[in-house]
Amino acid sequence: MVFGIYAWPLRLLAFSGIFALLFSALTMASPNTTTTPRIVDLAAQISTLVAQFQEHLSAHNLSSPSFAEEGPDTFPPEISHLKDALLDATAEMHELLLDPLSLLFKFAAISNLVSIDAISRYKIPDMIPPGSQISFDEISQKTGLQKGPVRRLLQHAMSMRILTEPEPEMVAHTRISKFMTIPSINSWVNFESRETWPATTRIVDAIQKWPNSQEANETGFILANNNKSVQDIVTTSPERAMRFASGMQAIDYVPGYAIENVSTVYDWASLGNVRIVNVAGSRGQAAIELAKNFGNIRLLVQDSANMIQGAESGVPEELKGRVEFMAHGLFEPQTIKAPVYFFRMAFRSLGDKYAVQVLKAQIPVLESGVKILLQDVCMPEPDTIPLWRERISRSVDLALECFSNGRERYLDEWKYLLAAADKRFVLHRVYVPKDSLLGILEIHWDVTCSGEA
Ligand SMILES: *[C@@H]1O[C@H](CO)[C@@H](O)[C@H](O)[C@H]1NC(C)=O
Ligand SMILES: *[C@@H]1O[C@H](CO)[C@@H](O)[C@H](O)[C@H]1NC(C)=O
Ligand SMILES: *[C@@H]1O[C@H](CO)[C@@H](O)[C@H](O)[C@H]1NC(C)=O
Ligand SMILES: *[C@@H]1O[C@H](CO)[C@@H](O)[C@H](O)[C@H]1NC(C)=O
Ligand SMILES: *[C@@H]1O[C@H](CO)[C@@H](O)[C@H](O)[C@H]1NC(C)=O
Repeated sequence: MVFGIYAWPLRLLAFSGIFALLFSALTMASPNTTTTPRIVDLAAQISTLVAQFQEHLSAHNLSSPSFAEEGPDTFPPEISHLKDALLDATAEMHELLLDPLSLLFKFAAISNLVSIDAISRYKIPDMIPPGSQISFDEISQKTGLQKGPVRRLLQHAMSMRILTEPEPEMVAHTRISKFMTIPSINSWVNFESRETWPATTRIVDAIQKWPNSQEANETGFILANNNKSVQDIVTTSPERAMRFASGMQAIDYVPGYAIENVSTVYDWASLGNVRIVNVAGSRGQAAIELAKNFGNIRLLVQDSANMIQGAESGVPEELKGRVEFMAHGLFEPQTIKAPVYFFRMAFRSLGDKYAVQVLKAQIPVLESGVKILLQDVCMPEPDTIPLWRERISRSVDLALECFSNGRERYLDEWKYLLAAADKRFVLHRVYVPKDSLLGILEIHWDVTCSGEA
C-alpha cells in the first residue's frame, strides 16, 4: 500500500520542477583562446543554425516558431539537434550579457509561480475563447477579483509570454496559455504550484535538519506539511490526492515518457514467448500497452491491493488472460518465478537504502539468466546532453528529493546500487532513446559472479 500509491503519483515528477532552476549550475563551453569574442562566435553559430532550421521548416511547409496562439508547439525530430544547439547558444548569449545580479534574479525567479498559480487556479486560460479576446473587466467579473489584482497577475504572466495584451485592456492567448487549457496540463501546473513549490522551498531546511537522509519522512515535503508525508496526504485529503493523480496525465507530454513509448524503448520481441512480472506496475497501464504490441508475452502486474483493486476491468477483452494482477508490496520477498522482471519508474522515488531492499527482495526466485529491466533515467554525464535538457533533469532530480528523498542516478550510481544489493546483479546494457532520458537498464542475474548474501 505505502509504496504502491506512493510510487504512482511520483511518476509525474518526471515532468516536475521545470520552474526549479534556482540551483542549476551554469556550465558554459570553454572560450576559444583565439581572439574571436564569444558573443561573436555565438552569433555566427546562431545565424547558421537558424538558417538550417528555417530551411527545413520551409521545405516541409511547416510554421516557423511563434508565440501566436496557433503557433507550433513542437518541431520535427529530425531537426531536434538544431533546436538543441540553438537553445543552448541563445541561452548562453542571453546569460553572458546579464550582470550577476540579473542572472541570479532570472534563476531565482521567486515570483514566477505566483502568476502561474493564479491563472491555473482560476482557470483563466479557459475563459478566453480560441482566437478571441476578453477584457480585464470580464475576467474580473468571472473570478470575483477586482480588476487591479487581475491585471497585475496577468501582466506578470504576460511578461513570461503566457497570455498577451493585443490592445489595451484586452487579453488573448499565446500558444503557452492555449496549452494551459488542456485539462491535464492545468492539473499539472496546479500540482507544481501547490505541492511541489512549497515542498521545494524546504529542501535545504530538510538537508540541514537530517543530513544525508534517505528516509521518505525526512523531506522538504514533510517540513512544508506539518509532518505529513505524501502518503499521509493522499490517503486523508481526497482533493490533494486528486491533484497528485490527475496531474500525472501530463507526463504524456514529456518526450519519451508516454505509455506508448514503452514499446519502442526496448526490443521486447527478442524476449520471445515469456511471462513478465511487472513489479509496482500500478493499474497495468504499461503491461496493457506491451501486451497489445507483443502477442507472445504475458504480464503479471504486482502492486498494492488498493492500487490494483478493480484494475482487471481496465484490461481490454482481447488481452484478458495475458495481463493479470496480483497484490504484492514492493518490499515483500518476490514469490513468482519468471524469466523477466520489469520495473517502470519504481526506483527514482526511493533512497539507495530502500532501492537496495527492493532488489534484494527479488533474489529468492532468481535463476541464472533472468533479466531485470528497469525503465528509469540514467543521468547523462555533464556536457553530454544539451544544457537546456540537463537543466530540466537536474530540476526533476531535486523535486524527487523533496517528496521522498528519491533521486535520479548516474551510471556509476546504478552500478553501485546493484553491487550493494548483490554482485550477481550484472548490468548488461543501457538503452537510451533519442530525445529522451527515460531508458531501460537491462540487468542479468549471473550466478557465475561471486555472489554474496
Ligand atoms: C578556436 O578557433 C579556431 C578557429 O576557428 C580553431 O582552429 C581552434 O581549434 C579553436 N580553439 C579552441 C580551444 O577551441
Ligand atoms: C503549404 O501550405 C499552404 C498553406 O498552409 C498550402 O496552401 C500549400 O498547398 C502547402 N504546400 C505544400 C507543398 O504542401
Ligand atoms: C523516519 O522513519 C524512520 C524509519 O521508519 C525512523 O527511523 C525515523 O525516526 C523517522 N524520522 C522522523 C523524523 O520521524
Ligand atoms: C514534527 O515532529 C517532530 C518530531 O516527531 C516534533 O518535534 C515537531 O514538533 C513536529 N512538528 C509539527 C509542526 O507538528
Ligand atoms: C513516443 O510515442 C509517440 C507516439 O507514438 C511518438 O510520436 C514519439 O516520437 C515517441 N517518442 C519517443 C522519444 O520515443
